[in-house]
Amino acid sequence: MIKLLIDFIQFLNTIAPLLVSLAVLTLLAALLSKSIKKHATVYYIAMAVPFAMVAIPFTGRLLGIELFNFNRIPFLGGILRDYIHMGTLGFPLLIIIMYMGALNPKNSTVKKLLGIRKELSIMSGFPILTHSLIRVTNSFPNALKFFTDNEGYMESARAINALGAGLTSFSFVLGILMLALFIPLWVTSFNSVHKRMGSVKWKKLQRWSYVLYAMLFIHAMCIQSGSMLNPREREMPKPAIEVTATTSETHNRNNRGNSELRENADRSDSGNGNKNAVQPIADSILRTEAVRPAVRNGHQQGQGFADIKVDAQIRRYIHTASLILIFGSYLYLRMRKARMKKK
Ligand code: HEM
Repeated sequence: MIKLLIDFIQFLNTIAPLLVSLAVLTLLAALLSKSIKKHATVYYIAMAVPFAMVAIPFTGRLLGIELFNFNRIPFLGGILRDYIHMGTLGFPLLIIIMYMGALNPKNSTVKKLLGIRKELSIMSGFPILTHSLIRVTNSFPNALKFFTDNEGYMESARAINALGAGLTSFSFVLGILMLALFIPLWVTSFNSVHKRMGSVKWKKLQRWSYVLYAMLFIHAMCIQSGSMLNPREREMPKPAIEVTATTSETHNRNNRGNSELRENADRSDSGNGNKNAVQPIADSILRTEAVRPAVRNGHQQGQGFADIKVDAQIRRYIHTASLILIFGSYLYLRMRKARMKKK
């Protein structure tokens, strides 16, 4: 029973990692709210360490100094890559902070989270800065090429769809504007700066966070649609095959899918896609097959959640639907709250 539950959660994490991370992080933040409030500096340091582990060797490399690459260390490397891609921590933290302004402050969980909103904002800054540092230096110059030398870009990026390449490149330019907006919002979250600024000025500035949320939605949607139009080679539909992998092999493969979905980076760095990319969606749905039960020691293994293989493109559709659900619900709740306040 417990194994079935774990399998199911792992399966959910494979197909909808953002929603699972969001649920887990909300729960953790509510449970740790008192500790976060009391020992905020410890949490800031814990969040700043991965940033330093990425930023110091990366800046060193830019300056021609080869420093130790922490990305190579198992597990720790996974955390650092997650930081870079705004996966398990960065994006869900931003969503929690965003939702705090739209939910009923009288609700006990919302109350707890509202009490640490400033601390969560400061914590979210570290994955955002890590993500931006890598993206601005690695991906942005190439994205600019789309606008300055379109033909050269399309050729070097092996992009088959100009609209997709345009959406991806646009999302990078938008990322720069987001960064320019995020930095003052983030810096003024620190108590000392807030106090020096005064409450009136501070509140006025913080209103820009709504613009940042709108840009965040466009940024994520453009990245996802750009990748759908120019899928990477490993996301391309493969011929339907009968898979006879063992349960654990399949399970590992599905887990890998989770990070694959987030690792748009390499493709984004070199542009996009593959020459044979576009195939009917139906094709890919048909191939979202449940892997046949493996035969082990002459016995057929039962078919569990860990055996269900979900196509990378399908996972991307689910992720995009999650984005629409999250931001759509936020907009609805925020507007409802504003209407009620007016009344
Ligand atoms: C305040 C600044 C930024 C924020 C808050 C931000 C936020 C995000 C988020 C939440 C995602 C995940 C989207 C998803 O899961 O669907 C993402 C992905 C991405 N962003 Fe940003 N971003 C910022 C700046 C930038 C900049 C400056 C660039 C490039 C110039 C950039 C390029 C990318 C790329 C390529 C991805 C795909 C995932 C990856 O490989 O990292 N972002 N961003």
